Amino acid sequence: MKKNGDEHKKQNGDPSGKKKNGNLLNEAEKKANQIRIFLDDEEEPIISYKPPVRFELDTTQLPDGKHKLLIEATDAVGTVGTRTVHFEVRNGPGIGIEGLQDDDILDGKVPVLVNAYGGASEPYWEPSRAETPSPIPTWAWVLLLAIVGWSMVYVAQQWYPTGEFADSPTYSFYSKEGLNLTEESSGSSGSPAKMGATLYRTSCSSCHQTNGEGLAGAFPPLAGNEVVTADDPTNHIQVVLWGLEGKTIDGVDYAAAMPGWSEQLSDEEVAAIINHERTSWGNDAATITAEDVSEVRAKGPVDNETLKEQL
Ligand code: HEC
Repeated sequence: MKKNGDEHKKQNGDPSGKKKNGNLLNEAEKKANQIRIFLDDEEEPIISYKPPVRFELDTTQLPDGKHKLLIEATDAVGTVGTRTVHFEVRNGPGIGIEGLQDDDILDGKVPVLVNAYGGASEPYWEPSRAETPSPIPTWAWVLLLAIVGWSMVYVAQQWYPTGEFADSPTYSFYSKEGLNLTEESSGSSGSPAKMGATLYRTSCSSCHQTNGEGLAGAFPPLAGNEVVTADDPTNHIQVVLWGLEGKTIDGVDYAAAMPGWSEQLSDEEVAAIINHERTSWGNDAATITAEDVSEVRAKGPVDNETLKEQL
């Protein structure tokens, strides 16, 4: 900067040529190739140097509030370009207001909390003063509730394993047999009774358990169950084919849904499972045939509401 200043002087004092044009030229020459910076509306520039100009703007000398810098640059032939920069100085302490906002409509007594902190002239920062005590805003509560709600829905959804997933190790702990299913799980061979037992174990026991007792509060017992022991097997077949959701069974609401099996199981397989349920765990109800299943299947899906009313 010093150097710039020196050059500036040298130019002014340049004895060569142009001087004879007198003061006017001198004045123009003085401004040529210069940057002059004016603060606010002052007449005198705070800085007048050859570019580039680097300087320190000491805002502590300025009152808090809006200010502007006017930059005026003159090129070698005297053309002037200007640029204005607006800025705001805030050296005083920050002010926090709780309980009152711009344009609020008020009545009665309104508790207002005002705090002030910081400030450029304060040598030590006192963090405790920066914290204006304020209540947790409503949106934070809403967000929290939304997250909690979403996670509950997510967890609830994990109770709905699909047929094939229900057999996976993830859900195997619902089954007392655990992973020992494999040796028989390949399915529909052997006598119908054996097939029923096997299919029940692979498709149903993960929820209703091998002993038909279900899991208290999560999956209903099939031992002694009204639908399973009813003389008319129609509802039993319908539930197994089309699934069931939201029915209160023996005074218990089940959050999970019973998946429908119409896609995975043939009429024969459904009949075998149903017969297994009807003749196991102390159940002693009339058995059915694959034709019974096929008749119910042919009538098409029964929607859940109708099914719930029937049962
Ligand atoms: C994912 C777990 C799950 C699997 C697997 C499952 N069920 Fe269910 N089942 C349920 C739930 C939960 C209910 C109760 C639904 C309700 O309350 O609306 C239920 C209800 C039933 C009912 C009706 C009980 C009543 O009183 O209305 C029968 C019958 C039944 N299941 C048989 C089966 C058969 C057969 C299989 C295998 C082919 C099977 N379930 C597989 C969860 C399951």
